[in-house]
Amino acid sequence: MKYNMNMKSKLINIKSMVNSVGELGWFQNGDLDFIIKRIYFIKDVPENQKRGLHGHKELEQIIIPLMGSFEVKIINRFEEVTYILDNSKQGLYIPKMSWRELSNFSNQSCCLILASELYDPNDYIFNINDFMEMINT
Ligand code: TYD
Repeated sequence: MKYNMNMKSKLINIKSMVNSVGELGWFQNGDLDFIIKRIYFIKDVPENQKRGLHGHKELEQIIIPLMGSFEVKIINRFEEVTYILDNSKQGLYIPKMSWRELSNFSNQSCCLILASELYDPNDYIFNINDFMEMINT
């Protein structure tokens, strides 16, 4: 098998402290199966717009709905599944060699992404047909 694909997506619980002064959640290296090399966020997505719509070869990610809600559709060798993310105490782990589509962003939603690799345009697969061929061969 040319590409490394041996995991399904999964929801993971985020350590946090919630009290009268608010919510504080955290991750640190050692808590995850990968070392975080990059973080980025997505916010202010207009109604009915989608993000993602591509696959990644080597990248693993955790997507956290810091504010609001949105949907994440994942396709990989093992599953085609859609998650509704609306709880900042749960992140979605996306394994290598997965297609992702983010949609239905609620007003004022904000999404934090922890990534296992530095930004690399060569890691992207933009054509769904190419992606399906890669996971099925
Ligand atoms: P992209 O990953 O395509 O986001 P989405 O699929 O949600 O639209 O990234 C959009 C643009 O931002 C792309 O032109 C590259 C740039 N970008 C970086 O330069 N570094 C990064 O870490 C990320 C995630 C994106």
